Amino acid sequence: MKNVILLGAIILTLFTACEWQTIEPEKIELPKEEVLFSTQIQPIFTAKCISCHTANNPKLTSGVAYSSLTNGYINTTDPAQSKLYTAFAVSGGKHYEKGILTATEIATILKWIEEGAKNN
Ligand code: HEC
Repeated sequence: MKNVILLGAIILTLFTACEWQTIEPEKIELPKEEVLFSTQIQPIFTAKCISCHTANNPKLTSGVAYSSLTNGYINTTDPAQSKLYTAFAVSGGKHYEKGILTATEIATILKWIEEGAKNN
């Protein structure tokens, strides 16, 4: 009898311990207008990257970031191959799965590159 109760308790625990959780995919809200480097991209770097990327390449501090990025981290012919994008968006990328950027920020960066990665 004791065993039956114990078994019952174990089964009950197993069933109540697991709950279904719905993970909502992050909604991407892309800006409709052309993305501006100065007001939409640089502020992301300033807020989230320069703790490491002041000395490390690419250098992302204001005034230096654009020339540093266009020196090999951006591919306007094939934007999705840009290191600035793959580092976050491709499995195995340096910053993939770290959660530094939101999906919207990553998409905004890609849109900026697709629009020609202008120093605008
Ligand atoms: C905690 C420190 C840290 C933070 C924060 C960080 N990075 Fe990095 N990042 C690194 C290091 C270290 C490397 C490797 C540098 C090297 O290999 O010389 C790197 C590499 C990169 C690379 C090159 C990837 C490649 O494929 O060569 C890019 C692009 C990059 N980071 C962009 C960013 C951006 C954009 C942000 C902010 C959104 C950011 N990082 C935030 C530490 C950081």
